[in-house]
Amino acid sequence: MDLPDSSELSRRDYLRALVAAGGTAALSACLDSSGDSPVPTGDPDARPQRQHAWNDALATDDDGNPQNPEHHVLLALELTADVDDDSRAQVESALRSLESAYAYDNDGLLFTMGYSPSYFETVGTDPPLPEPEALTTIESPEFDDFDSLVHLASDNANVVLEAEEALFGEVTPNDTEMEATFEGVFERGEPRRTGFVGAGLPADHTDMPGVPESVPDEAPFFMGFRSGFAESQAPESRVTISEGPYAGGTTTHVESLTLQLRTWFEQDNHFQRVAKLFSPDHAKEERVGSVGERLGASTGVAGEIADDTAEDAREFGTVGHAQKTARARDDDGTPPLLRRDFNTVDGDQPGVHFLAHQRQIGDFVRARRAMAGEDIAGEGVGQRLNNGILQYIFVRRRGNFLVPPREKRALPTA
Ligand code: HEM
Repeated sequence: MDLPDSSELSRRDYLRALVAAGGTAALSACLDSSGDSPVPTGDPDARPQRQHAWNDALATDDDGNPQNPEHHVLLALELTADVDDDSRAQVESALRSLESAYAYDNDGLLFTMGYSPSYFETVGTDPPLPEPEALTTIESPEFDDFDSLVHLASDNANVVLEAEEALFGEVTPNDTEMEATFEGVFERGEPRRTGFVGAGLPADHTDMPGVPESVPDEAPFFMGFRSGFAESQAPESRVTISEGPYAGGTTTHVESLTLQLRTWFEQDNHFQRVAKLFSPDHAKEERVGSVGERLGASTGVAGEIADDTAEDAREFGTVGHAQKTARARDDDGTPPLLRRDFNTVDGDQPGVHFLAHQRQIGDFVRARRAMAGEDIAGEGVGQRLNNGILQYIFVRRRGNFLVPPREKRALPTA
């Protein structure tokens, strides 16, 4: 891939574009542009057993909501070796080397490594999770069928790029020796996906045909609002597998979406956008503010507003995405999904890689069906029309992965 032109982009967007380009040339351009600020090193023995236990390591915003790191890479891997003690030790040693190279926080590196159902079939074990499938009647996605997914995340663009190259033996990360690499065990699979989250970053992309000027300057996500409020996220314990060989692990679902932002920003006004993303009550009572700044750490959709979804469809002809999806909470009000989604412009189109952790893929399916609102289609709202944000999002791919606890993360066969 050609490298981006630094003279045409803001510095942050240039770094974002280098992560999207990937490779050692992008990494050197990124290191040149990042200046000399040192990246903290880390200690593998200080990392928790749950690969997904990021919350204690993440920075928080002024309201106490954990902040997903700014840069993300979803690395697809194909297995090329037999799974045995040697290959397992090699993979574990490569991962521990990364943990020595970088601190366990937003400035360093957060990552998870998961395995697809096809991986388990390849190694001759019953897959402990289902194959991905279409979850609604209005989608026909492609499916991730590679063996393993590594999710790399950091506030430093050079860290995600360098960690990726280090896994393939191309560079020494953060002056720390790689005691082993993935070479000979894994090769790169398709697709390589990248993305970003952060106030101001979506508005940096208005030069792209699919991104209108009206994306708010301070919005962290393309659709113009904050997301990931602490109260609407599953606690890490709720998404942790509680028994069996993978107790302490979790699952990952990745839903890659493209966005129709022109209609969203140019045909709808702020009132309609709030009604469709949160709820009609949120719009009428002006609860949200321009990008969600009034919400603090909770949207307040759980309970009454979620329960009123079908009535809002009949009475107002519009329901909100958050209100509708909150119907899938557990009986005691706990949200079942831990969302770590991020924006993308992969393929030069605005989109979202919606990455969520849950104890079992069935939890995701339940939430996604609540979001699809097929039960209320025809009862005041359409299949897509005024049914939350469904008119503006298009599902392109889905993938399911088992993320073992850290002690079993290297080529599991249980
Ligand atoms: C472009 C796509 C999407 C956008 C812009 C979006 C945005 C939002 C926003 C703004 C909220 C409310 C604030 C918050 O608590 O985070 C929310 C809540 C939520 N969304 Fe999405 N979302 C998207 C896709 C999805 C998908 C694919 C799922 C999959 C099931 C999903 C599941 C949820 C859940 C579970 C909640 C929390 C509901 C609760 O309070 O229990 N979202 N989303």
